[in-house]
Amino acid sequence: MILKGKRGIISGALDANSIAWKVAQKAHAQGAKIVLTNAPVAMRMGEIKKLSTETGAEIIPADATSMEDLTNLFTKSQEILGGKIDFVLHSIGMSPNIRKNIPYTELNYDYFMKSLDISALSLHKMLSAAYKIDAISEWGSVVALSYIAAQRTYPFYTDMADAKAALESITRSFGYHYGKAKKVRVNTVSQSPTKTTAGNGIKGFENFYNVADSISPLGNASADSCADFCMTLFSDFTRMVTMQNLFHDGGYSNTGISMELMEIFEKGAGK
Ligand SMILES: NC(=O)c1ccc[n+]([C@@H]2O[C@H](COP(=O)([O-])OP(=O)(O)OC[C@H]3O[C@@H](n4cnc5c(N)ncnc54)[C@H](O)[C@@H]3O)[C@@H](O)[C@H]2O)c1
Repeated sequence: MILKGKRGIISGALDANSIAWKVAQKAHAQGAKIVLTNAPVAMRMGEIKKLSTETGAEIIPADATSMEDLTNLFTKSQEILGGKIDFVLHSIGMSPNIRKNIPYTELNYDYFMKSLDISALSLHKMLSAAYKIDAISEWGSVVALSYIAAQRTYPFYTDMADAKAALESITRSFGYHYGKAKKVRVNTVSQSPTKTTAGNGIKGFENFYNVADSISPLGNASADSCADFCMTLFSDFTRMVTMQNLFHDGGYSNTGISMELMEIFEKGAGK
């Protein structure tokens, strides 16, 4: 019960595969009271209602690109939960360029702006909406989900790589200001490839998932273990961790190549 008595907002639970779905279930199990949020369009799927019943959480629709929606989200959440918010999960990403299979060298710039707005600026907007009305409690914790393409090139990740780089930069920049003003900490978790709606939407995801799995000494980190890690970051046990990008990837980011991958190439070369 490391989150007993804490109040949290969890965005991005679309269906049972979503990383945010597992985070909501675990936060509830750890004793937190939560509010769920997602884009109004995602409500139409109806899946989130199951999670709301399971966790006793109210749902507040909010488009994460709208300051008005986000201000309403923080205002209503405080009313429903009975006080300032102790933790927030930003689990939001979408690229129209990826959806439409447009290669990086031919990006549509209107779509690119959308990718950046939804996947990166939305973190700034969330933090700014909360900051303006002082909605997050002292020593509160904000976690956003990122991917290693922010640091290294993964050609098929196209404009989402640029969005993740911005997301991690906003984490550092806003983390400084929110830390100074209210001791609120802001971090990103850089997660392994995970089989979700967003993950599966990336071209060649299945192959890539398997390559990453064979490189990581511990194998790919699951959505479930990512949610466990988020529990520690929301808890009081990580109070002095802020402005960090924390790899949660089974060791992938520090491994050059694995013996398993070498063997696959040796076999392929007929040796
Ligand atoms: N799946 C992976 O391989 C992987 C790896 C590393 C990081 N991540 C990141 O994890 C996060 C969650 O993704 P997921 O893999 O659980 O997939 P998901 O598709 O289940 O979640 C993405 C969520 O973003 C929401 N969203 C999209 N546009 C929005 C908007 N305008 N306003 C509010 N919400 C909006 C969607 O409704 C959805 O719930 C994303 O930031 C993603 O980039 C995923």
